[in-house]
Amino acid sequence: MKNRKGIILAGGIATRLYPLTLAISKQIMPIYDKPMIYYPLSVLMEAGLREVLIISNPRDLVIFKNLLEDGSKWGMHFEYKVQEKPNGLAEAFILAEDFIGKDNVAMILGDNMFYGNNLPKILKHANERENEATIFGFYVNDPTPYGVVEVNRDGHVLSIEEKPVNPKSHYAVPGLYFYTNEVIEIAKNIKPSARGELEITSVNEEYMKRGKLIVEKLGRAMTWFDTGTHDSLLETASFVQTIEKRRGMQICCPEEIAFRKGWIDAKELSNLADKFMKTDYGRYLKDLAENGIGDE
Ligand code: DAU
Repeated sequence: MKNRKGIILAGGIATRLYPLTLAISKQIMPIYDKPMIYYPLSVLMEAGLREVLIISNPRDLVIFKNLLEDGSKWGMHFEYKVQEKPNGLAEAFILAEDFIGKDNVAMILGDNMFYGNNLPKILKHANERENEATIFGFYVNDPTPYGVVEVNRDGHVLSIEEKPVNPKSHYAVPGLYFYTNEVIEIAKNIKPSARGELEITSVNEEYMKRGKLIVEKLGRAMTWFDTGTHDSLLETASFVQTIEKRRGMQICCPEEIAFRKGWIDAKELSNLADKFMKTDYGRYLKDLAENGIGDE
């Protein structure tokens, strides 16, 4: 199977979270017991992607380097790239050209969180699709703040629009995109939108024109949050707290995923846990290292 690299786009200025983000990145904010970026990173890991490029603004990139390092502690490989200005989501593929090389790529936004039983299966399918792009459709009450996709009964994509005033469907497009290598060329050729950005929706439109855009609907059992406002930050954190307390299991824990995938062994996991032994997080990792993998 063709190799696929991962990108986390974690830049921008997050004015909707001011004053929280006046001096620090949004994607480092806590979602209950973990920094926000752990959640999208876990999705890429769950998809089996071990080589990941983290893109952020000149001010914040260093924070992610300090947090995530070179990735080897989790059996991964991380690289970093500055985006000078928030010129749009699609610019990521131009910035990542050397990193992507000849491989396929998946990108996730640093403020998007996914949770659900069938997520690994959905990600596996998207990853295995080598010659088409895969995006997702998530039914929401009000899709106007998002990219909105319209799909017919046969799964054929009819339209895709960015933040439409009169949306043609209830399906928002979450910030997770699986692309072929041609995304680099596509991103280089799209024109900035009225708001002056290289829109991801323009990339998706181009794939649609080429007859290569697959939309996977995320069913009722899936949850998607984009944590862009004060309320959604708190709601997402409460959601994570509720599930973790009730189940006694972690959500989007990179150390655990690395261990389950066999990218690190029990000894390495135990060493990582030693740092955090004053927290439930650390005790959870220790237990995992000593007693092995419990329930899936
Ligand atoms: O969350 C899903 C939505 O994300 C999609 O449905 C939309 O189609 C897509 O355009 C995007 O919409 P947003 O309005 O949420 O995009 P926003 O400008 O808020 O950027 C999303 C994240 O990406 C945010 O955390 C900041 C970061 N970002 C944004 C831009 C424009 C960057 O790192 N660099 C950028 O150039």
